[in-house]
Amino acid sequence: NGTVGKAGKSRNILEKMDESGKNCVIFYGSQTGTAEDYASRLAKEGSSRFGLKTMTADLEDYDYDNLDQFPEDKVAFFVLATYGEGEPTDNAVEFYEFISSEDVSFSEKGGIEEKALGGLQYVAFGLGNNTYEHYNSMVRNLTKFMDRLGAKRIGDAGEGDDGAGTMEEDFLAWKEPMWAALSSAMNLEEREAVYEPVYEVTEKPDMSADDDLVYLGEPNKNHLEGHSKGPYNAHNPYIAPIAESKELFNDKTRNCLHMEIDVSGSNLSYTTGDHIAIWPTNAGKEVDRFLNILGLTDKRHMVIAVKGLDATAKVPFPSPTTYDTVVRYHLEICAGLSRQFVSSLAQFAPNETIKAEITKIGSDKDYFHEHAASKNYNIAQFLEAMGNGEKWTKIPFTLFIESLNKIQPRYYSISSSSLVQDKKISITAVVESLEAVGAPHVVKGVTTNYLLALKQKQHGDPHPDPHGLDYAIGGPRNKYDGIHVPVHVRHSNFKLPSDPSRPVIMVGPGTGVAPFRGFVQERAQQAKNGENVGKTILFFGCRNSRDDFLYADEWKQYAEDMGDKFELVTAFSREGPNKVYVQHRLKEKAEEVNKLLEQKGYFYVCGDAANMAREVNEVLAQIISEQRGIPKEKAESIVKQMRTSNLYQEDVWS
Ligand code: 2AM
Repeated sequence: NGTVGKAGKSRNILEKMDESGKNCVIFYGSQTGTAEDYASRLAKEGSSRFGLKTMTADLEDYDYDNLDQFPEDKVAFFVLATYGEGEPTDNAVEFYEFISSEDVSFSEKGGIEEKALGGLQYVAFGLGNNTYEHYNSMVRNLTKFMDRLGAKRIGDAGEGDDGAGTMEEDFLAWKEPMWAALSSAMNLEEREAVYEPVYEVTEKPDMSADDDLVYLGEPNKNHLEGHSKGPYNAHNPYIAPIAESKELFNDKTRNCLHMEIDVSGSNLSYTTGDHIAIWPTNAGKEVDRFLNILGLTDKRHMVIAVKGLDATAKVPFPSPTTYDTVVRYHLEICAGLSRQFVSSLAQFAPNETIKAEITKIGSDKDYFHEHAASKNYNIAQFLEAMGNGEKWTKIPFTLFIESLNKIQPRYYSISSSSLVQDKKISITAVVESLEAVGAPHVVKGVTTNYLLALKQKQHGDPHPDPHGLDYAIGGPRNKYDGIHVPVHVRHSNFKLPSDPSRPVIMVGPGTGVAPFRGFVQERAQQAKNGENVGKTILFFGCRNSRDDFLYADEWKQYAEDMGDKFELVTAFSREGPNKVYVQHRLKEKAEEVNKLLEQKGYFYVCGDAANMAREVNEVLAQIISEQRGIPKEKAESIVKQMRTSNLYQEDVWS
């Protein structure tokens, strides 16, 4: 129907497929890039193994009211992540609203009554997390809505579980029977997979990396030209000065950072409880390793032009650029390995022995676990370990652009109040490293170590780089003076009651306290402004009162500002003979907790999703059951009801 979307691109998927000769579109609903990555992998596999003419499509780039005219000899895939409390990802909101509507109506064949999608065959895979209540609800609902519209599903709808850590294996196990079903539905013939590049990399020896036209990490043209402007969002970060950074732990072996990020030079705004996205850079040490194992060290600053080989292939970063830039700023080189990617490397092994080993690792789940996954390798560490001193010069660079995720911004709960400091955003982040028994490498959190490096640089630390990670600081071309970090803000539904007199109970052990520092800061300010602020209880847990008691001094100040309206309840897990956790303290305060809930108090939980948040949920139901003398099931349904009416809010991660 010729509707034209942003950048003048057609929003008509049928037209787009026709023009580019495609018979398979893989739509994705992705928040952090994983679903998008799976979509690309399916597209690659469909074309290399089955000769399908595939394209991937961001759900927000198209209209859907013409899906009723989708040709019967083509196929649509839907790869959908479920986000938060069973919600669609940001880019899938419109699609979901459209398809779930009771009076959905398509441009020619009508809606539900007419089974308007009778001609559409589709494949579905969902990405979810079973520690959340609405596990994989996006893909489950999609099949429900597709059924009622008469669409024909090919194979089972797959469900990947991030909570159990089996996403990759769930995906691999799902896709083989799916391909078999699709082959028979579309009469496809499987062939020996041949690598067909999606992109082309052209080296430009006549250009210099100093050339103004060459991207050295700038995310878009405005940034390249030195006049970035808003709106700042997931495609366009604001390069913010770090106004202040400090260490919160006294324990010398671990770090927890407090940072104040100054957004006064931008139109960025936030409200208490929102998230800030930090755009990380890979550690220099890992960039060097990656370039070295591919034999690209000498050419790292060679200018390259990267383009898609057909019109539907979007290059995930701007070009011309350099190998070094792509690896440092755009590819997720420090993530864990995927078995499918490993098996695609066999054909490019330095010799036959290595090829045989890689083939075995790629095809045998247990062998893969033993020799790759359990070692905590990133891709370059894996290639080093497998290559026996040999470099992997045969792997086309395009394969990495196609197969590795692009670096995603990481979201942190903002730990300040917008009422107190609307142009300075604070974060509270533990610097992560993960050591697995018997693994040769310590996995370093990409973003938190980057932030640590920024902090140390800012403080002129004499040992600025204790782990030898060697982050490039100062941004591309080192043109930002002072210490800066690329950011944007994501608004959340994790919010204080609009009426400050309502009681508030917060449960946030460890860095789960982050948003609650913002909440308490806000309520203390409201109290100082003379507003009637309700009871405010914070349950905080950490190892002991000496090493990792976050903001220990600040709480005293808030208590002065708020008087008896503020109460901090601590659970030090490693101070006495027994573990004491926040949920134990919650139980000890059962009577008061229940009383506040009966006064329509709000209940908040932030932190670890897998154990803590689930246990707190259970304990709350127990408290309600015991205090009100009602059966456990009844209490559980009260807790559920609290969630639906936003009286119980979570900001959790796994
Ligand atoms: P631990 O590490 O001593 O077991 C912040 O990480 C605090 O949360 C620590 O005191 C930690 O205790 C505690 N913690 C660990 N698991 C928890 C759980 N399931 N519920 C609540 N707190 C937990």
